[in-house]
Amino acid sequence: MRWEWITIPKSDGIGDAMAEHIEFSINGTPVRTKPDPSTTLLDYLRIEQGLTGTKEGCNEGDCGACTVMVSERHGQKIGHSAVNACILFLPQLHGKSIRTVEGVSCTNGSPNCVQQAMVDLHASQCGFCTPGFVMSLVSGHLNRSHSHNDVIAGNLCRCTGYAPIVRAAEAAFDQELPAWSKDIADEIATERYSVASHDFFIPGNVEELATWLTANPDATIVAGATDVGLWATKQLREIRPTCFIAGIPELGRIQRQNGRWLVGACATLSKFRRFAGSYFPSLSELIRRFGSVQVRNSATVGGNIANGSPIGDLPPALIALGAQLVLQRGNVTRTIPIGEFFIDYGKQDLLPGEFLRAIEIPDHKGTFGCYKLSKRFDQDISAVCGCFRIWAEDGVVREVRLAFGGMAATPKQAKEAEKSLIGQPWNEAAVRCAMDKLSEDFSPISDMRASADYRMETAQNMLLRFFVEQTAPEEVTNVLEVQP
Ligand SMILES: Cc1cc2nc3c(=O)[nH]c(=O)nc-3n(C[C@H](O)[C@H](O)[C@H](O)COP(=O)(O)OP(=O)(O)OC[C@H]3O[C@@H](n4cnc5c(N)ncnc54)[C@H](O)[C@@H]3O)c2cc1C
Ligand code: FES
Ligand code: FES
Repeated sequence: MRWEWITIPKSDGIGDAMAEHIEFSINGTPVRTKPDPSTTLLDYLRIEQGLTGTKEGCNEGDCGACTVMVSERHGQKIGHSAVNACILFLPQLHGKSIRTVEGVSCTNGSPNCVQQAMVDLHASQCGFCTPGFVMSLVSGHLNRSHSHNDVIAGNLCRCTGYAPIVRAAEAAFDQELPAWSKDIADEIATERYSVASHDFFIPGNVEELATWLTANPDATIVAGATDVGLWATKQLREIRPTCFIAGIPELGRIQRQNGRWLVGACATLSKFRRFAGSYFPSLSELIRRFGSVQVRNSATVGGNIANGSPIGDLPPALIALGAQLVLQRGNVTRTIPIGEFFIDYGKQDLLPGEFLRAIEIPDHKGTFGCYKLSKRFDQDISAVCGCFRIWAEDGVVREVRLAFGGMAATPKQAKEAEKSLIGQPWNEAAVRCAMDKLSEDFSPISDMRASADYRMETAQNMLLRFFVEQTAPEEVTNVLEVQP
């Protein structure tokens, strides 16, 4: 089905004849609406549209029952992403195409190849989780992803078991793509216009964002909403006025500039993982353990830093890589080392009206490793996350950066342990000395994720494991394995 986007002329300034309505399409049908910025896509689908195939389970991004597929333009290409509708606000969908389970069958109404495989291979019992699984598998099918376990890691099933669902994914993998998938390009806006309402703003570029935030310094910035979504659904917090920044093209880019990588604050974790896969394989593996496909498709690099969480996964990695943050207020930018951004628990170096624009990652010498310990492999927050970079020349440590999450009130560098390693031979004795020094750097707390003692022992063993992985394992005695 083809349909025309209503085109609203681009404005020259904020409030200058700017649109108040957002536009998107659901299962090929255009929608134009003036939303409450805190309405979630899940509520809109079920309550306003009567599309009750999309289920509500946890309402916090954990179970995948609400999974839908969102398609959008990335330059000339169209990207398809499974996302959790329960923690997506309607303005985040401006200009995009949404597919729900009601919109994926064949043109003649018969099940598509994923649905048929689910039936044939007995992949559903009570059926509550099934629409969510179908949407994850449909997205995986369109993306021709063969990492079936990853594709469904964000979907929980309490009665069928996952083996038949993985078999269904395998069976559908190389089947022809559904006919409706060819129409998606026409369902996405070719040009996305800015929207300004009395209680929310969708800027089209960085300049509009900077100007609006200066005038509205108390506004809630929303990027992927995988944190802010829960403020609305679980804590019933007021998030208005709200500024939705994830669609600003410049903030989503990852590019090489002046000999460093410049990562736009709104690059999603999925995009960042694809980049990391080429340059920092260990970081890519860490990101595989970050939430689920649905969470990574929405969550942004900037959101993971700006939220200031002591157990966010990216900050330790970025500290170890020597990253700098580019912050902007109005037309003034400043650059600070990422470690200085985290002042104390819940306190970041972010001024009113300021936003995180980009993250600069310099080239690094030597080796780099990331380790995450959580109770579950997938979809779980870290108890401890350790990231290490070391450069040894002629067997002597010349540069070292050791950073941890979960060990203090903020993500933090282990400066005493680093000092003990500099100028030392890169051997087991020096590493064991640095392991001891970690107790001078950190006094971790006990909480539901881990006890203080367990955190300390794990952090020490992560460092030992890094050493073992970088050198000959037989040189090391009594290695305690870090359990995933
Ligand atoms: C099910 C689930 C699993 C998760 N698993 C993990 C995990 O494994 N590891 C992990 O680290 N986290 C995890 N998270 C937490 C969350 O996904 C991350 O912190 C994510 O990176 C937040 O990014 P976002 O774009 O969604 O941020 P948002 O929710 O949009 O924003 C988060 C905070 O950052 C601010 N903000 C966002 N962008 C900017 C900016 N550019 N400038 C200034 N302020 C900004 C917002 O105002 C808000 O205060 C999980 C969350 C869920 C729901
Ligand atoms: S309802 Fe559980 S992830 Fe959305
Ligand atoms: S079939 Fe019952 S929860 Fe999955």
